[in-house]
Amino acid sequence: MTNSVAVIVGSLRKDSLNLKLAQALEKLAAGKLVFDYVDIGDLPAYNDDLWVNPPASVLRMKEQVAKADGLLMLTPEYNRSYAGILKNAMDWGSRPYGQGVWQGKATAVAGTSPGSIGAAVGQARLRADLASLSTVLAPLPEVNLQWKPAAYDESGDVIDAGTRAFLQGYIDQFAAFIAKNA
Ligand code: FNR
Repeated sequence: MTNSVAVIVGSLRKDSLNLKLAQALEKLAAGKLVFDYVDIGDLPAYNDDLWVNPPASVLRMKEQVAKADGLLMLTPEYNRSYAGILKNAMDWGSRPYGQGVWQGKATAVAGTSPGSIGAAVGQARLRADLASLSTVLAPLPEVNLQWKPAAYDESGDVIDAGTRAFLQGYIDQFAAFIAKNA
């Protein structure tokens, strides 16, 4: 069975390493998971007043997340935390009160950085906040991936054997977790 995953990348750069990591995971998940990328770059800064006439971008984002069987968030590390655009999306998705989309969602976090700890601190903070939103975090190995361009070919496939085996195991375990919890 193929389940769907809403994928939210916490970087808006077109050459984002975290987007590349998401796309590499998508290829490794072929046949098990279908990735639905959720654009959060067009969400306004959170403003409770806007619920009177909710922005289309907010409604679209909430719908994409609500209908997905699972949620994958990838974050760069910004100043030892996760990306602010993710927090903004999390706040929008948590309201109106009682109509949030995060609760009970089978969720995984991943991240990469050129730095040696691979966005580990940012991801730890993201996991804590996702727990506050009552997502169901999958018990997965942490993807604290230091980005090494030589590990990928021109089409974005993971060609380094160790990295590939690690990421394959991660996404396979997430697919199994979603199948059990969705
Ligand atoms: C960074 N970067 C960074 N890296 C890191 O390992 N720890 C950190 O605390 C920070 N802090 C930080 C703050 C800000 C404002 C920027 C713009 C960058 C570097 C960051 O990991 C690098 O730019 C990544 O390539 C960003 O991810 P994307 O955009 O490639 O997905």
